[in-house]
Amino acid sequence: MEPRRTAVLISGTGTNLQALIDATAGGDHPARIVLVISNREGAGGLERAARAGIPTRVIPSARFETRGAFDTALDTALREAEVDLVCLAGFMRVLGQDFVARWRDRMLNIHPSLLPAFRGLETHARVLEAGLPVTGCTVHFVRPEIDEGPVLVQGVVPVFPEDDVETLNARVLEVEHRCYPRALEMVAAGRISVIDERAVLAGERPFERLVLHPSLQEATR
Ligand code: GAR
Repeated sequence: MEPRRTAVLISGTGTNLQALIDATAGGDHPARIVLVISNREGAGGLERAARAGIPTRVIPSARFETRGAFDTALDTALREAEVDLVCLAGFMRVLGQDFVARWRDRMLNIHPSLLPAFRGLETHARVLEAGLPVTGCTVHFVRPEIDEGPVLVQGVVPVFPEDDVETLNARVLEVEHRCYPRALEMVAAGRISVIDERAVLAGERPFERLVLHPSLQEATR
């Protein structure tokens, strides 16, 4: 099967983009990144894409008068590049209902918490405030409601008493970088069906949709 043509949408540093670039660069991943779009000029991820020889576009959301006009420009760029799948990777712009409907079950997002807990922003600060022993990340299909949709893969990390937002963010990012390529692989390979708004993985093996931070693997051994 031809690799699925994939676009990655970013707003910032793009470490998840980098993980996706690295995972799909070899010949054996069922997705290929054909376009990176940023809604912010100067986003660090644009450099990463350029270094990997991937075409980039900047569609500055701040310059559009309405959400609809921005979404249309985005959709046009995706269609021009004959994109099959879209990965939101630190894309900090809410997409409208029509756009989300058009890309239903073909658009993935990564969120830095174990959804459905801690939707929205400042997830790590809220986890620390709640005094929880674990947190993590979630890759899911996008729905119009923010941070909702069938869950594909989750990564789990411990929270240590001495953690602050920065240390926790770094630990969660480590598992994000393993979860996102894995989720994209499942979707691109056509192994995921959505049944009753749950993602079902064909031939699922134990723990295939779960990634543990290395410190947890050691602690639970
Ligand atoms: C990641 O932690 C991602 O989960 C988060 O932004 C960061 C982007 O980092 N996404 C959201 O908060 C979406 N609501 P990156 O640019 O280094 O990939």
